[in-house]
Amino acid sequence: MENRPLEYDYTVAKMFMLTTIVLGIVGMLVGVILAFQLAYPSLNGSDLAIAEYINYSRLRPLHTDAVVFGFTLSGIFATWYYVGQRVLKVSMAESRFLMFIGKLHFWLYLIAVAAAVISLLMGVTTSKEYAEFEWPIDIAIVVVWILFGMGVFGLIGIRREKTLYISVWYYIATFLGIAMLYLFNNMAIPTMFGVSEIGESSVGVWYHSVSMYAGTNDALVQWWYGHNAVAFGFTVPIIAMIYYFLPKESGQAIYSYKLSLLSFWGLMFLYIWAGGHHLLYSTVPDWMQTMGSIFSIILILPSWGSAINMLLTMRGEWQQVAASPLIKFMILGSTFYMFSTLEGSIQAIKSVNAIAHFTDWIIGHVHNGALGWVTFMIMAALYHMAPRVFKREIYSKSLMATQFWIQTVGVVLYFTSMWIAGITQGMMWRAHDEFGNLAYSFIDTVTVLYPYYTIRGVGGVLYLVGFLMFAYNMYKTMSARPVKESELQSASPMGA
Ligand code: HEM
Ligand code: HEM
Repeated sequence: MENRPLEYDYTVAKMFMLTTIVLGIVGMLVGVILAFQLAYPSLNGSDLAIAEYINYSRLRPLHTDAVVFGFTLSGIFATWYYVGQRVLKVSMAESRFLMFIGKLHFWLYLIAVAAAVISLLMGVTTSKEYAEFEWPIDIAIVVVWILFGMGVFGLIGIRREKTLYISVWYYIATFLGIAMLYLFNNMAIPTMFGVSEIGESSVGVWYHSVSMYAGTNDALVQWWYGHNAVAFGFTVPIIAMIYYFLPKESGQAIYSYKLSLLSFWGLMFLYIWAGGHHLLYSTVPDWMQTMGSIFSIILILPSWGSAINMLLTMRGEWQQVAASPLIKFMILGSTFYMFSTLEGSIQAIKSVNAIAHFTDWIIGHVHNGALGWVTFMIMAALYHMAPRVFKREIYSKSLMATQFWIQTVGVVLYFTSMWIAGITQGMMWRAHDEFGNLAYSFIDTVTVLYPYYTIRGVGGVLYLVGFLMFAYNMYKTMSARPVKESELQSASPMGA
């Protein structure tokens, strides 16, 4: 019994892998539609009966929420239910209670996603970015999150491995960070409790609510949340993944465990103060803006600390990057992480932000991180997990390699077009003659962007095509002939 390898139970991990893929396709497809709607406004379909449901303003939050709360969150859950068991040396099958919680977590999550999609398409929204859901869905999300927390701490509670591997620290931080942010930012009063001053139209709609905060305070809490959603949704859990999957896939020990801990505490301390960079030149007190700006610049240290640690993990083994498309995804992902954090720190400098804010350069920065780092890493994690979870070889490594190059070209087209578009916008908006008259009318600054919007759309199509290839490769892997884990070609030489 003692020497028998543990049989991990991946039932819940498999369920979340499926939603990662499906919601990834939905979110990115909507992203591509949005990209073309910006280039060709007639695609808003204003003469169609369904125009209300397919116009840009309905679809934009559907895109952001599908990729953040659908695709990324599913990826975080799927990897937790895989990594958690392996690094803690305990199987979900050992606790019927945890198994039940895991399944409940999945099904309630699915119900919340369905409710969110319907409500966004119907135009029900709080109008706060990344916090659009009204209170009934917020409550469902809180319950889902508590179940996730029970899954995390439940497994930790019954673990055999006493040392908590660094990835577990990052998953715990993800749980605690999002719990705190989500609760505070979504504090609202349902209008059915009689907030009659807010206007006739919204009173009486049972699901409507008003924020507990007003004016500048509301903006501050919103961007404290918004920025840290990036921290605890797009950074911390993705680092958790790479610290597990890169050493596993490459057979290399992490370069420096100390550096990983130092960066961990650096990220925890600094991120929380940096949200003010979203509100530069606003009504927020000047000292807060400056603080946001300064903390954002210092944030480069732990960010690059993590990224350099990942890159140096491959020291002396760079031939693996050339040989393995899966390692390529992770190494280019780390490089994009360095890239987007450097870019973010530069955009947080007040004088740079004066040009960048409200422009497409910000959208370029977002997708540098979202496509090059977050999505690359989640796909790499699922590619690594699939053979072990489904006990089958990956269907096609050459398809994976082709996908890698198609998507890389897609990201490059996306961010280069947005850089040019953003800086063009920023410069045209502020250009003036010697009398102080604006040199361009607003519409001039819009029409000049059409070519760049089209290029972004093409980049998006390439990226989506690559994601569909990933989905196909995963599907063919699931339905192939089963093999034993010890026979898998890519089985890592390292333990769990
Ligand atoms: C050192 C790390 C980072 C810093 C200092 C930073 C800084 C910034 C700044 C200054 C903005 C523009 C605010 C504005 O003028 O509107 C921004 C926007 C944004 N960044 Fe970053 N960034 C960092 C890393 C990342 C990463 C890794 C991602 C991952 C995808 C990311 C995602 C976003 C998103 C989604 C927005 C847009 C928010 C919105 O307006 O909706 N950032 N960031
Ligand atoms: C095929 C891939 C994708 C395409 C073509 C695409 C396209 C777009 C477009 C057109 C917008 C609206 C930009 C604007 O309002 O000017 C947008 C916003 C956004 N997208 Fe994507 N997207 C894609 C994938 C993703 C993924 C995978 C993520 C996250 C993991 C993501 C996160 C976001 C975020 C956070 C915003 C809001 C940015 C802001 O407000 O500053 N996107 N996307």
